Amino acid sequence: MRVDVFTIFPDLISDYCSYSLLSNAISEKRLALNLHNLREFGLGKHRKVDDEPYGGGAGMIMRCEPIFDAVESVSDLKRPLYVLSPKGKLFDQQMANDLSKSDGFSLICSRYEGIDERVISNLADGEISIGDYVLAGGELAALVVIEAVARLLPGFMGNSVSPVEETFFNGLLEAPQYTRPSEFKGLKVPEVLMNGDHEKIRKFSLATSLYETLKKRPDLIEKRGGLTEEEQKLLDELKSDI
Ligand code: ADE
Repeated sequence: MRVDVFTIFPDLISDYCSYSLLSNAISEKRLALNLHNLREFGLGKHRKVDDEPYGGGAGMIMRCEPIFDAVESVSDLKRPLYVLSPKGKLFDQQMANDLSKSDGFSLICSRYEGIDERVISNLADGEISIGDYVLAGGELAALVVIEAVARLLPGFMGNSVSPVEETFFNGLLEAPQYTRPSEFKGLKVPEVLMNGDHEKIRKFSLATSLYETLKKRPDLIEKRGGLTEEEQKLLDELKSDI
């Protein structure tokens, strides 16, 4: 997979990506991360990339020329090309899954109070937001997108089973998990998880996953159309056990 990122702070992206599994994916050439410094395409002696907004208002706006020039300097750019912005489509696991199946995509990070609208309407293919809050720039958001997508690439986690059993993959939160010791300060790991009966473990995990989701994110249950009869039964059995 190839990801191109346009930013005035390429080091923010490369530093984060130089750790752990992302760094492995890059060095093993499963992920090609191409960083483009917008400052290099800035105007004049000072490599200016921003200016005051037409019509007045607070803050500075990123000019369109450096961004168009930077993007157009890459001949084989992978699209879609997204601008990170709080006005964009909310990024979620489904979007990460879809992007992970492509051979690449590209991201533009804005800074200051925003970006000239012509970049959004005439150069980019869309905008992505990582949540309903405003960050100081798109770099953190780009990293969120890159990591959420890259960890779905084959070989990323060294364990191909994990992505299908985790939070959000079937529209539910993952069941609570435990590791050794089996008892800590009098707090015990549920007996069923330690008895090796895989069918019982599967049912218990599904029931606790449903329970967690109903408790913490009832909106997710609503989104998948409520509970099936079997799920309701499993949940009732669990509730009668606790
Ligand atoms: N840039 C500033 N805030 C953002 C957000 N919430 N998501 C994506 N990019 C942003």
